[in-house]
Amino acid sequence: MAYTFNWTRFQKAGFFSQNWGRTPCVIRNALPADFDGITPEVLAGLSLEENVESRIVIQHGPQDYELRRGPFTEADYAALPEQDWTLLVQGVDRIVPAVQKLLTAFDFIPYWRLDDVMISYAVTGGNVGPHYDHYHVFLYQMAGHRRWTLTSQHCTEDNYLEGVPLRLMKDFPVELEYEVGPGDVLYIPPLWGHHGVALDDACMTASVGYRSLRAKELMEALADWLAEQPAGNSLFHDPSWLGLPPGEMDGRVAQAALATLRPALTTPGLDHALAQMMTLPDQAAVDLLPEPLAPPAMLDDLPALLQETPVWLRDSVTRMALTEDGALFVNGNRWETEASLDFRRWLADHILYEDAERWLGNPQDAAALLHAINNQWIVPDED
Ligand SMILES: [Fe+2]
Repeated sequence: MAYTFNWTRFQKAGFFSQNWGRTPCVIRNALPADFDGITPEVLAGLSLEENVESRIVIQHGPQDYELRRGPFTEADYAALPEQDWTLLVQGVDRIVPAVQKLLTAFDFIPYWRLDDVMISYAVTGGNVGPHYDHYHVFLYQMAGHRRWTLTSQHCTEDNYLEGVPLRLMKDFPVELEYEVGPGDVLYIPPLWGHHGVALDDACMTASVGYRSLRAKELMEALADWLAEQPAGNSLFHDPSWLGLPPGEMDGRVAQAALATLRPALTTPGLDHALAQMMTLPDQAAVDLLPEPLAPPAMLDDLPALLQETPVWLRDSVTRMALTEDGALFVNGNRWETEASLDFRRWLADHILYEDAERWLGNPQDAAALLHAINNQWIVPDED
């Protein structure tokens, strides 16, 4: 099942003009108030596993926090206090398909822009302390209630509490305050201090996070990509040096250099460099990338396979981006496919695929669909 973010076109436009990257806001009843795709028991179960990143934060006093790192044991849970602790599990969308499907509600932000979904479970009083991130985050209150306070001030590296194992803000002049309940979504831009305290037991919050990109990352990705381009073999065009003293440079040098680089820095070249970078799996995902199916499915099997499996899901770490000129990038590589633009759009714009049979009529599209299945970029939806 796909999810819909419950807001009006007007609210959505207002979000992008006023909130995205600027100021926090709450969208009431944006998502289901009774999401049952993950339970506290399943979340705690994940935190017992070796390859899952989990933490428990316990607050012992006003400025006294303890950080524990997973994997945990059942005995760890039995020894926890009654109140004031939070369990946090990273990358739940990569492990629990029901949580991955929740991302269909966030189709108003490009899928290739997403980092991961962290889910927290807190008992009354549970919180991770006042802090700021370099992330855009949508905090979906899945169950229970939480009170948030927020500030745009003092979100700087020198404003932190000493002697605490977490990066917490010392000065936190509250500017905004919200109480959220099941179904509400709080959006927080990067560099906004936030502090959320659970008001009841079984308080579950999903954080859908989008990392800020640093110019340095774009520059490095661009440099790597440029070095591999055929345009790299073109020559620097020496301008006329008439009148330039022999040990000096003037504006002509930069002009000539820019003229040499320009063909590579305009679209589609730049688009492709960015699509390659944005679809490259991150460190945590690289080990989870799918292996091709062995033995592969054959084209003759495809109609029966689609009958058997009506719904397909994007592999949980696979990233795709389609550029304006129709180039499709998958996991950091351009996929040279003969498939129609409609097919490429369908593949890139979804993470849940409900009508794959429609591509059987066109041999190129059917072959491309088979390729996506055989590479396990899309997998059967088990639900
Ligand atoms: Fe945060």
